[in-house]
Amino acid sequence: MPTVHFDSGGREYQIEVPVGTTVMRAAVDNGVPGIDGDCNGECGCATCHVYVDPAWLSKTGERPSTEKQLLNFASAAESNSRLACQIRITHALDGLRVRIPDSQH
Ligand code: FES
Repeated sequence: MPTVHFDSGGREYQIEVPVGTTVMRAAVDNGVPGIDGDCNGECGCATCHVYVDPAWLSKTGERPSTEKQLLNFASAAESNSRLACQIRITHALDGLRVRIPDSQH
């Protein structure tokens, strides 16, 4: 099962995630602090904002336009910002590293 590494407030959470699960769902279901997922993955709240480790950006893919628009309203958005509900885990993402913005703590 692929593993995702979350950095939340300087603490690392290493979560095994079934293929097909979103990064947001993995965080919420495993109690990773800082990801709320208020809209339940409908790309409507940005409470699942994460920074993708630059080494993984090519594997997580491009941001869809709706995600880009929503990230415009997220605090502290950066070029490697993604909405965790829009990243679905595949075997190619085994080892993915994301960091949760300090503003979400
Ligand atoms: Fe709302 Fe991701 S859970 S945008």
